[in-house]
Amino acid sequence: MAFLLFLLCLILVIFTVTTMGVPNIPSLDPVNRFLKGQTDVSKIVSSDFQEFFYDQTLDHFNYRPESYTTFQQRYYINYKWWGGASNNAPIFAYLGAESPIDDALWSIGFLPENAPRFNALLVYMEHRFYGQSNPVGSMEAPNMVDAMEKSLENPDTRGYFNSAQALADYAELLLYLKNQLQAHNSPIIVIGGSYGGMLASWFRLKYPHIALGALASSAPILYFENLTPPDGYYSVVTQDFKEASQNCYTTIKQSWDVIDQLATTPSGLAYLSQKFQTCSPLSNADELKNYLKSVYSNAAQYDAPPNYPTARICQGIDGASDATDILDRIFAGVVAYMPGMSCYVTSPEVVSPSESVSQTSIGWEWQTCSELLIPLGITSEDSMFQSLPYDANVFIDNCVRSFGVGPRPHWVTTYYGGQDIKLILSKFGSNIIFSNGLRDPYSIGGVLENISENIVAIKTTEGSHCLDILSSGEADPEWLVKQRKDEANIIDRWFAEYYRNFRLL
Ligand SMILES: *[C@@H]1O[C@H](CO)[C@@H](O)[C@H](O)[C@H]1NC(C)=O
Repeated sequence: MAFLLFLLCLILVIFTVTTMGVPNIPSLDPVNRFLKGQTDVSKIVSSDFQEFFYDQTLDHFNYRPESYTTFQQRYYINYKWWGGASNNAPIFAYLGAESPIDDALWSIGFLPENAPRFNALLVYMEHRFYGQSNPVGSMEAPNMVDAMEKSLENPDTRGYFNSAQALADYAELLLYLKNQLQAHNSPIIVIGGSYGGMLASWFRLKYPHIALGALASSAPILYFENLTPPDGYYSVVTQDFKEASQNCYTTIKQSWDVIDQLATTPSGLAYLSQKFQTCSPLSNADELKNYLKSVYSNAAQYDAPPNYPTARICQGIDGASDATDILDRIFAGVVAYMPGMSCYVTSPEVVSPSESVSQTSIGWEWQTCSELLIPLGITSEDSMFQSLPYDANVFIDNCVRSFGVGPRPHWVTTYYGGQDIKLILSKFGSNIIFSNGLRDPYSIGGVLENISENIVAIKTTEGSHCLDILSSGEADPEWLVKQRKDEANIIDRWFAEYYRNFRLL
């Protein structure tokens, strides 16, 4: 089962590494099976979540004729624990990110697990263009992957595919729901992970009259422009492996040149293909090296208990250290992480041709090539990876090749800020929790220090990507249980203050 979880994560990381994007939270079928033994969340999904569609405004910021057309935005509501409008009982709103919303219903346990304590209504909203919320729609395309492709081919349609429009969707939909429910004084907490975590924190800053607070899990809002060194991500991966084992780190660091050397000749490539049991013959060194890089990055990003993939890889590598060949040791690490595969070194589409995976990879490429440009590179001497400095021009050229148009690298910091965040937000903002696990390489672009009494960083040294908002399990370590509890207690204090103010007015 852990292997299935790994597969899922690998897929997502391959995308993120190749597109230089932000990683997703685990959210595909394999995790479903993985979690089934641990939680009852899957049962909750089937019985208590109701599906709805909202006639969403295509363009919130223009009044040209095509702007006021609408599309169907999908969302789910769970009334099971709600204390009702007459009690001004709160609303937890999960902000969908770069995938269909379906998997969040069972994988994001923070909402249903805390709903009974707060008598909260749960709302899960799908991000525009993903899942069934694509303006091109299923009427015009045979399936949602085709819809995603179609909507990106068309410059008119894809122009509406950005974070500001998505936030405005959530604002409009939440106000509509409050109105429908007559729940005008029910406070809303927005919750999201990774890119969705960025959206949650930005939503609180842009729409404070709609959201009382935000839980932004593993949100690298500072990984834009020059706010975080491009080397940050891979320096954390390196650190994670060093902590697992110094010998493992050294072995990986030395392996790249060996691969390069062998790959210079056809017989060397054939040897590498055989050594790594590749699914198809390697045609160059990069195929293998990019694969290994994504395996290591994935392990670090999702370095979660109880299996701790970095430790597993290193046990494989160190355990084989009597072998004379360094490549045998590297391969032993890969196999220790995902044993029993029929072949290795394969593309994510082959590993999982699922609709959800494809939509994420296609849609996310557009998002990172238009506004969410995250500079990633490798420069540190100490890195266990080969040097590969971030080159903005190369990145931009790739985007132009894919879409015929380049990104706006300054827009995120122009529109949402990020510069001098402590100075700016300490007096301006409030009620945001930035949660991170420091083994997650993206945590280096997150908010890791308390900004004020009400904009707080809740971090764990042993945690990884989005762990705190995922469904809890029996085997969860004490520090993770505590992190989740701390977050719920902070939200409790926000509510207490809100209801106090409400009574006074
Ligand atoms: C921020 O403040 C909270 C208390 O509100 C505390 O639990 C947390 O550890 C602090 N975070 C950091 C990074 O100091």
